[in-house]
Amino acid sequence: MKKARIVGTGSYLPEKILTNFDLEKFLDTSDEWIVSRTGIRERRIAAADENTSDLATRAARQALDMAGISPGDLDMIIVGTITGDYPWPATSCLVQKNLGIPGCAAFDVSAACSGFVYALDMAARQIESGAIKTVLVIGAEILSRILDWEDRNTCILFGDGAGAAVLKAEDGPNGVLSSHLHADGSFWELLYQPGFGTRHTPSAEGMDQRLHLVRMQGNEVFKVAVRSLSDVALEALGANGMAVADIDHFIPHQANRRILEATARRLGLKDEQVVINVDRFGNTSGASIPIALDEANRAGKIKEGDVVLLDAFGGGFTWASSLLLW
Ligand code: COA
Repeated sequence: MKKARIVGTGSYLPEKILTNFDLEKFLDTSDEWIVSRTGIRERRIAAADENTSDLATRAARQALDMAGISPGDLDMIIVGTITGDYPWPATSCLVQKNLGIPGCAAFDVSAACSGFVYALDMAARQIESGAIKTVLVIGAEILSRILDWEDRNTCILFGDGAGAAVLKAEDGPNGVLSSHLHADGSFWELLYQPGFGTRHTPSAEGMDQRLHLVRMQGNEVFKVAVRSLSDVALEALGANGMAVADIDHFIPHQANRRILEATARRLGLKDEQVVINVDRFGNTSGASIPIALDEANRAGKIKEGDVVLLDAFGGGFTWASSLLLW
C-alpha cells in the first residue's frame, strides 16, 4: 500500500496584528487577564479585502512551492473551514479557481477546529486506496468576521490565518501512519454559530440578537477539550505501538495555552516536544495545526524520520489525531 506523505507545507497570516493592548481600548479586559488565562498576546486580523479563499490560496502556493509540485498535478483539494467565503460553493472550489486548475475534485470539510486533521485523513485514505496520488489539504479561517467584538468571553481568543500541506503517494514507510476521528453532537450548543442556516434564516431580528456571531461556554469546553485531546493522542500512539516518549513533535490545536499545558501534563509530555504558537496567533480554528506544522517545518525543526502527532479539538464537538512519520 502507498503511504500518503506530506511533501510541502505553507502558511499565511494576515499582516494586521491586534494585541491585547488594542483590545483594552474597546473592551473591559486587560493584557494581564488574557495572558494569564489563555497565553494569547496578539492575533492576526484579515484585511477588509481579504477572504478565506485568499488566505487559503497563499498558504497553498507556499506548500506547492516547497513540494516542487505544479498545481496542475493536484488530484484533489480539501479545505477545512467553518468561515468559508460563502455558505456555498465550497471554498476549495474558489482556491481551485485561483490556482487555475479546473477539473480536480474539490470540497470543504466542516469539523470546526478539527477540520484540518479530518481533511488530512480524507486525503490520506484516498491516496492509500490508490485512487489518487496528490492532494492539497488546507485549513483556513477568518474568525474575526463572526466574532462578537462586545463579548470579552469569546472575541479575545480567536484570530485569522491559513495553513496548507501537500500530500503525495510514496513507497516506503514515511507518511500518515494512522488517523483517528471522533465527534459527539450532544455538545453542539457549547460552541457554535446560531445563524444563519436553516434553523435561523437571515432576518433583521436575528441580526439584532447577534445570531450570526460565535457563542461559547468556555468552562465546559475547557474540560472536555483536555480529556478528548489526551484520549485521542493516546489512541494514535496505541494503534502504532508507540509511547509518549516516541513523539518528537506534538502539534496540538492552538486553543489556548492552559488547555495545551493541561493536555501536555496529562500525557506526560516534555516542553521540548510541544509546538506552541498560540501566544502570537490566538486560536485560528481549522488553520491552527497546519500553521504550527509549517512554522516548525520551515524552521528546520522537523527532520526526516521524526514522529509528529497532530491533535485537534473543536466545535461539534469534534476531535481527531493523526500520527505522521516525517
Ligand atoms: N477579560 C477580563 N475578564 C474576563 C474576560 C476577559 N476577556 N473574559 C471573562 N472574564 C471574566 C468573566 O466575566 C468572569 O467574571 P465574573 O467572575 O465577574 O463573572 C471571570 O472573568 C471568570 O470567567 P471564567 O469564564 O470562569 O474564566 P475562565 O478562567 O474559565 O477563563 C476562558 C475563560 C474562556 C479563557 C476559559 O474558560 C477557556 O479557555 N475555555 C476554553 C475556550 C476555548 O479554548 N474554546 C475553543 C476550543 S476549540
